Amino acid sequence: MTQKEPRLPNRQVPFSDAFIAFIPQDWAPYPSELPARLATAEHTQARRDAVSAAYPGERIVVPAGGLKVRSNDTDHRFRPHSAFAHLTGLGTDREPDAVLVLEPIFVDSPDATHAVDDAGHVATLYFKPRAPRTDPEFYADARYGEMWVGQRESLEEMQAMTGLQCEALAALPGALSVHLDRIPSRVVRNVDDRITTLLDELRRTHEVDFDVCVDEELETMLSELRLIKDDFELEQLQLACDATTVGFEAVVADFPAAVANGRGERWCEGVFALHARHLGNDVGYGSICAAGDHATTLHWVRNDGELREGDLVLLDMGVEVDTLYTADVTRTLPVTGRFTPAQRTVYDAVLAAQQAGIDAARAGRTFHEVHDAAIRVVAEHLHAWGILPVSVEESLDPVTGGQHRRWMVHGTSHHLGIDVHDCAQARKEFYREGTLRPGMCITVEPGIYFKSTDLLVPEELRGIGVRIEDDIVITDDDPLILSKALPREADAVEEWMAGLLGR
Ligand code: GLY
Ligand code: MN
Repeated sequence: MTQKEPRLPNRQVPFSDAFIAFIPQDWAPYPSELPARLATAEHTQARRDAVSAAYPGERIVVPAGGLKVRSNDTDHRFRPHSAFAHLTGLGTDREPDAVLVLEPIFVDSPDATHAVDDAGHVATLYFKPRAPRTDPEFYADARYGEMWVGQRESLEEMQAMTGLQCEALAALPGALSVHLDRIPSRVVRNVDDRITTLLDELRRTHEVDFDVCVDEELETMLSELRLIKDDFELEQLQLACDATTVGFEAVVADFPAAVANGRGERWCEGVFALHARHLGNDVGYGSICAAGDHATTLHWVRNDGELREGDLVLLDMGVEVDTLYTADVTRTLPVTGRFTPAQRTVYDAVLAAQQAGIDAARAGRTFHEVHDAAIRVVAEHLHAWGILPVSVEESLDPVTGGQHRRWMVHGTSHHLGIDVHDCAQARKEFYREGTLRPGMCITVEPGIYFKSTDLLVPEELRGIGVRIEDDIVITDDDPLILSKALPREADAVEEWMAGLLGR
């Protein structure tokens, strides 16, 4: 077949002139009252001020990112880039394609050739405001149209919600070109290729001498800006942990159904997801529901196995609330509600390692000391069980040892916040080698994983994988355990499960 005309998508029917004339008529006007300020928006000015102070006289560009195709013409649910959410307060699924620009304020005319004064920045949110009902977007645009995805905000409404000056996205290329030769610009790369490409093109046409490192530095700065959480962020993390508790309890209460229905791991994943969507925005990461030997695969997200009486099930799950802060909690639970002696042996060792990690998580100590404390306890248990082929000290030698890592290859902690692995671009002197400070939120999540195929492990322990993970906040005193509503001690776990299972 030869094709002369470009084909219309096979489900599209052209709109008649009569329809186009008819569709904008007789709709109630949009509300004249502006929406309330978002609770998050009260906290974003201080964060933007920190960025402004770090880059005087520079233009800072932080995209939200765009919709991502899942399949053909259907998209994944949108989630904004975390730096954008942090600086604008826009969570949930807001706002595809938007871009935050911090524009330096000039005391002198920007036309002057000398360096600009440090007079701060003005923040503008560029986004796609709703189109009038006369615009084909209203009825024909499946990604943005009101008839397809609901009513979007006007510029004024978004301004009221965020406290940010707002402009239409169409004005962005012009705004990014202004005095580009004199105003150094930085963009968070790898978020929205269209914005990165646009800025790179403008840099080329304005013959700006530019090194990609300046953009990478911005990403690092924005990541480090989130290392210490403000009180609002800690509240959100507590809400995420509280919702996660509800989800865990619903999953445990449904263990009998998960066993009876088959593919019990999926059942657990689904029950938790119900609560994550009901109470929050979503799960904060792909839930790990790993029964039996699957628990020895660290990121078992396939979740297609059976839940069997007598097995343990490792559940690593967290609710992300609407502001996008997420919990990250792991409990390893006996499906029947009671640990076997072999399971309890491994469980208690992991619990002791976790407690050592939590005890080390104090202001003034380094982040890696938490891991050092926990992994020592893991190595001691492996040695006591006759599994470790060398002494504890030999194994813990960072250069010549490491044998214990066969049974716990991951780190004990990561920062937690808007991203489950928060602050991932922070420099290592502020992360792994950094000092713990009040307001930091980290996980403490040691584990021991004995694969069923591991011939070094006593037979009765093979196929047992245990991880226990809690979310803690560093304070001037003992750490605050945000996820403490979920019991950790084996006896307390059994009692809690008995209550949920009615046994
Ligand atoms: N909860 C998954 C992880 O920390 O990698
Ligand atoms: Mn984790």
